[in-house]
Amino acid sequence: MAREYDIVLFGATGFTGTLTAEYLARHAPAGTRWALAGRNRDKLAAVRDRLAAIDPALTKLPLLTADATDPASVRAVASAARVVITTVGPYIAHGEPVVAACAEAGTDYVDLTGEPEFVDRAYVRHHARAVETGARLVHSCGFDSIPYDLGVYYTVRQFPDDVPIAVEGFMQASATVSGGTFHSAVTAFSRLRSLAQAARDRRRLEARPVGRQVRGTAVRPKRVAVLDAWALPAPTIDPQVVLRSARALDRYGPRFSYGHYVAVKRLRTALGLAGGVGAMIALAQLRPTREWLLARKPAGDGPTPEQRARSWFKVTFLAEGGGKRVRTEITGGDPGYDETAKMLAESALCLAFDDLPPTAGQVTPATAMGDALLDRLVAAGIGFTSR
Ligand SMILES: NC(=O)c1ccc[n+]([C@@H]2O[C@H](COP(=O)([O-])OP(=O)(O)OC[C@H]3O[C@@H](n4cnc5c(N)ncnc54)[C@H](OP(=O)(O)O)[C@@H]3O)[C@@H](O)[C@H]2O)c1
Repeated sequence: MAREYDIVLFGATGFTGTLTAEYLARHAPAGTRWALAGRNRDKLAAVRDRLAAIDPALTKLPLLTADATDPASVRAVASAARVVITTVGPYIAHGEPVVAACAEAGTDYVDLTGEPEFVDRAYVRHHARAVETGARLVHSCGFDSIPYDLGVYYTVRQFPDDVPIAVEGFMQASATVSGGTFHSAVTAFSRLRSLAQAARDRRRLEARPVGRQVRGTAVRPKRVAVLDAWALPAPTIDPQVVLRSARALDRYGPRFSYGHYVAVKRLRTALGLAGGVGAMIALAQLRPTREWLLARKPAGDGPTPEQRARSWFKVTFLAEGGGKRVRTEITGGDPGYDETAKMLAESALCLAFDDLPPTAGQVTPATAMGDALLDRLVAAGIGFTSR
């Protein structure tokens, strides 16, 4: 593809965008042609100054001005790049023009969304066009949903390819969220009806696997003795992504199931967590309470380097298949930002430079990048272990 840039990072001025830019400044291979994009040139120039402190050659890094509300400016970005990374969220508010432009231009796309409604609408509106142009549209390339999608992919690899496999995933973490993540979550909680409608619209279009069975396990709160923890069902986008990979890849076997949980040590914490999420959902329903909630955490803010240095995550998968039991663990540092920036940037580098199976349209990280991304994440310090 004759394009000016290998990678353009849209949203480089945001909290996660800046961390992603810093990761690329440190780890993109020499000769990578990349650029920053955003709606405010002065803010972009300030980010570039930070990057120049990491690598003085980046004083000349190109800056592209684009606003999600101006589709022509977004199309210009998409047609100049081989891969677009976007951290412009909430995605339900700002994301669609970027997906549309990439699908049309045949440009590969990665984002950080954890918003199922956005992903389902993007599928309904842009998957078919992306299949025609060859664009790979890969959503959820951050903590949502790489550790789960690649973690289950890695777990499945521990089994023969012809046995039924049942997997349960348990997420444990200690971390602080950014204003951007908080705003995206509150926005998603305020749209439960359109979320359900988008899921129905998608189901009508999407083909199911033939001759194989893939299903989500019915999940309920429970005590998990081997983890010495309480497990609560986690209705995030992650199990949807895992099941999509399972439908796309025969390697997941003739009968595959997945159940997704968050795990905490103390019952009191479990009750507090359930109550906190319930209260956020309730407050998100009406405009005045929603605005009050959003004002608690301004967009652009995020955890300090010290807070991030103390943060960690561990996802444990307990799997069973063909009479064999496997336990795998995916581990890393600050899930939401440092590790998310790493996962997102490595996904973009993987699409840009690695030899990958042929795919097009809306595809999951495991389907589009599987082994190559796994190798990259291990080399970048994310732990994948099995026993
Ligand atoms: N699922 C995960 O694992 C995960 C982890 C981290 C983040 N996220 C998601 O990533 C997104 C970003 O999070 P964040 O904390 O980095 O948010 P943030 O700091 O608020 O950054 C948002 C970015 O979007 C830009 N933006 C907003 N409206 C725009 C428009 N109309 N045109 C162009 N750019 C626009 C902002 O530009 P200005 O600087 O000019 O305002 C900023 O660069 C959120 O949706 C969050 O939920 C997901």
